Amino acid sequence: MIVVDGLSVSYGAVRALQSVSFEAPSGEITAVLGANGAGKTTLLRAISGLVSPLAGTVSKDGDVLTGRRTEDIVRLGVAHVPEGRGVIAEFTVEENLRLGFMIARGSLADALAEQYAIFPVLGERRRQAAATLSGGERQMLAMARALIARPSVLLLDEPSLGLAPLVTAQLMQQIRELCARENLTVVLVEQNATSALRIAQRAVVLRVGVVVANDTAAVVRDDENLRQYYLGMVE
Ligand SMILES: Nc1ncnc2c1ncn2[C@@H]1O[C@H](COP(=O)(O)OP(=O)(O)O)[C@@H](O)[C@H]1O
Ligand SMILES: [Mg+2]
Repeated sequence: MIVVDGLSVSYGAVRALQSVSFEAPSGEITAVLGANGAGKTTLLRAISGLVSPLAGTVSKDGDVLTGRRTEDIVRLGVAHVPEGRGVIAEFTVEENLRLGFMIARGSLADALAEQYAIFPVLGERRRQAAATLSGGERQMLAMARALIARPSVLLLDEPSLGLAPLVTAQLMQQIRELCARENLTVVLVEQNATSALRIAQRAVVLRVGVVVANDTAAVVRDDENLRQYYLGMVE
């Protein structure tokens, strides 16, 4: 489980996060929602050590992550799938997965087979360059590359970005199944609140760096004010 406590981050004069606190339990999906510029990406970057907070801490199962190097945070089981996915377009599917495995132990062949069982389309396309994949397949590759190192925490930054609604729905279902089966702590950043709230157990809503809601996904989903003013979910 991840505990974020009083986290504040600035970029020069821009305050991106202001005293953000919430808990993301294991075996559950915690959606982090909010408009463009709300601070969602900054939050994930702070959890994985890519930006240093001005104040506050992030801990995982009692270990403080704040102040550690990103490589050490990765080794502690935190996998970050960045916005825009970060797969290497010129590399094949399998080469991308090998990169993800570099920090792991055990048999590469077993780890690849496991990911191909979860994402059969990646097995079919293992020798193809990532550039030839569809948007949904590329997102699956980004997730597989993170999962192949067997993390306990999965940070996903806007996985639905640019995907068709049906592809998004399938991907969200896969995230939900993985989370339950592997007892993962999933922090799911999304501007697409409708899709995220369908699979999340908990939801944190950010508005210009401040938490305006931190509750069960059901409560956030049914709150008219949140839907209208912060999530842009207009019927
Ligand atoms: N590298 C950066 N330098 C300066 N300002 C930044 C940087 N990254 C993000 N910001 C600012 O921080 C705020 C939060 O951005 P971000 O975390 O990317 O939000 P979101 O992911 O919710 O769209 C915004 O005002 C954004 O302009
Ligand atoms: Mg972002």
